[in-house]
Amino acid sequence: MASPSLQMQLSDSELKLLQALVYQECGMHFDSRRAHFLQDRLQRRLRECRLDSFYSYYRLLISEEGKAELAKLLENLTVNETSFFRNKAQLELFHKHVLDDLLRRKQERHDFSLRMWSAGCSTGQEAYTMAMLAADALSYHCLRNPSGHEWTLPKPLIPPPWKVEVLASDISYSVLRAGQEATYSESQMASVDYNYRLRHFDKVGDRYAVKKPLKELVHFDFHNLKTEYLPQHNDVIFCRNVMMYFDEAEQKRLVEKFSRCLNAGGYLFVGHAESLLGLTDRFNMIYRDTGTAYQKTEVNS
Ligand SMILES: C[S@@+](CC[C@H](N)C(=O)[O-])C[C@H]1O[C@@H](n2cnc3c(N)ncnc32)[C@H](O)[C@@H]1O
Repeated sequence: MASPSLQMQLSDSELKLLQALVYQECGMHFDSRRAHFLQDRLQRRLRECRLDSFYSYYRLLISEEGKAELAKLLENLTVNETSFFRNKAQLELFHKHVLDDLLRRKQERHDFSLRMWSAGCSTGQEAYTMAMLAADALSYHCLRNPSGHEWTLPKPLIPPPWKVEVLASDISYSVLRAGQEATYSESQMASVDYNYRLRHFDKVGDRYAVKKPLKELVHFDFHNLKTEYLPQHNDVIFCRNVMMYFDEAEQKRLVEKFSRCLNAGGYLFVGHAESLLGLTDRFNMIYRDTGTAYQKTEVNS
């Protein structure tokens, strides 16, 4: 059994075994630039488990009893940086063009449901941002296209007959718990303007709690993007700042899966430093100002 302070030696072959296991389990690719990060996290987990070699740790991870430890390791390897209203130019495009187009096409088909997915949601700020913008776009849409539905007071956040669902998924249980809890610190709220704070948050002590009507639109669930079965029938997928940790082969597989998870004419948003260039021909890139998104090529008329 290893002493807690001892730094164990990680051989090249052990590193390769563990790199391959992590890749196989969640798609994250630790190339030479990021190998030191992987090594550091492996050292920590090895000490925590009080094992005396990385090979024993690997054996634990692939065993039936090691499933919880594998989840912990993956959790330790994720980067969870996120914020409300991240990448404003892209959100302008989402709000003004994408939602407008989706609501108009849906209204024509008398389909009053909007399904969106924040894939790799971290602590939930992206999913709540999507819900706030969808609620805004819908109020505006319904003003221009009155449905004749009677509203009960207080006025609902989502005007009937419309329904909005946002699925927020991640591979890390701790970030999913935080998203579900939906309370944010002053510094996490820095990018939320006062109009949105007033409408969608309650001040509770020194934190901000998402109000019930907005919270009810967002549902948190565990999904590993590496697996084959992923949530279907989405109108919009945000998968931002996740693919950058995958290699090209895994990015291609993921984009292929996303195209199957989207309704015809649905939209995919990726991070500022990510692109679908060279990965697929199933999407067309659209852009306004500096914001970009991708639309699935087959569109329902
Ligand atoms: C940098 S955060 C991005 C959060 C948010 N999308 C944004 O752009 O602000 C990346 C998130 O992807 C998650 N992630 C990484 N690999 C994943 C996988 N295979 N399946 C699901 N989520 C994954 C991480 O746990 C992390 O919370």
